[in-house]
Amino acid sequence: MTTKTTQYISTFEKDVTKGLSSFPKSLSSKYFYDKKGDKLFQDIMAMPTYYLTDSEYEIIASQKEDISVAFQAKSGFDLIELGAGDGKKTKVLLKYLSEKGIDYSYLPIDISQNVLDGLKESVQQEIPNIDIKPQQGTYFEVLDDLASYKARKKVILFLGSNIGNLLHPQAIDFLAHIQEGMNTDDLLFMGFDQKKNPQTILDAYNDKEGITAAFNKNVLHRINNELNANFDVDQFLHWEVYDPETGTAKSYLVSKKEQLVKIDKLQLEVPFNAWETIHTEISQKYDDNIVSWLASESGLQIVNQFTDSKGYYKNYIFKKK
Ligand code: AVJ
Repeated sequence: MTTKTTQYISTFEKDVTKGLSSFPKSLSSKYFYDKKGDKLFQDIMAMPTYYLTDSEYEIIASQKEDISVAFQAKSGFDLIELGAGDGKKTKVLLKYLSEKGIDYSYLPIDISQNVLDGLKESVQQEIPNIDIKPQQGTYFEVLDDLASYKARKKVILFLGSNIGNLLHPQAIDFLAHIQEGMNTDDLLFMGFDQKKNPQTILDAYNDKEGITAAFNKNVLHRINNELNANFDVDQFLHWEVYDPETGTAKSYLVSKKEQLVKIDKLQLEVPFNAWETIHTEISQKYDDNIVSWLASESGLQIVNQFTDSKGYYKNYIFKKK
């Protein structure tokens, strides 16, 4: 009898193998987020140069009344948030809705149960009578459940310009998927970082303190820790470019010298030429034309929009077409 060892290969392992064996090399930004990456992203959101968070906070804080009016429905609504995180921006809206006695339930969705537990506790502390039902899972798992929430109006929140990590075709797939789970009266409320002075954008992704650089390089630390690799992280530099024509900000890790990296768990050796790149992230910037196009390609239409005082950022409300 032969013994068979079933080897389970994770998506992370597959993606790293593929990304580092390709030319040009790439790694997905979704792998930035482990415990250390989550913390670094919190630090990024607190940086004055990372204007996205402040802009969206300003929109919600200053226009919560109009936003609530758009959300309201006779028999109340379910407020479903994708990738809820710490809920800092959402809580401003939740407080307002609760103060006004508006009938709603809050269903935050996050991949991390830890995040959801923390969120539930802080929301209940700040808004004592809130009806909160956290849902753990990936966007796509939960999105497939969305269609079954049809007892009353759904309002889906997707904040933070998180869609910006997707290329347009993927963004359309994502939006179309959400759209399929929506009924005629349901709404999608989403944040899109806008095109602006290219320098402002570069500064947001290239801070002098090196927080964004550490965030970008965290993917190499993860590979070192989880896949037994020997990346010398200091031998890579963080590089950001922004193309004002397409609105695409791209992050790279650039090898400062010729080097060979060994990834034991993958039985993989990865050679780098001096100044060879690993593409790690896109952070897409938008304007009304691009957003209308994305919406129409996904069976959605824009019904309302809100912007901050600087015009840096917009939240759009979409309905089914
Ligand atoms: C969380 C995807 C919106 O692209 O702006 C911040 C992540 N990357 N700084 C973004 C990020 C570098 C962020 N998103």
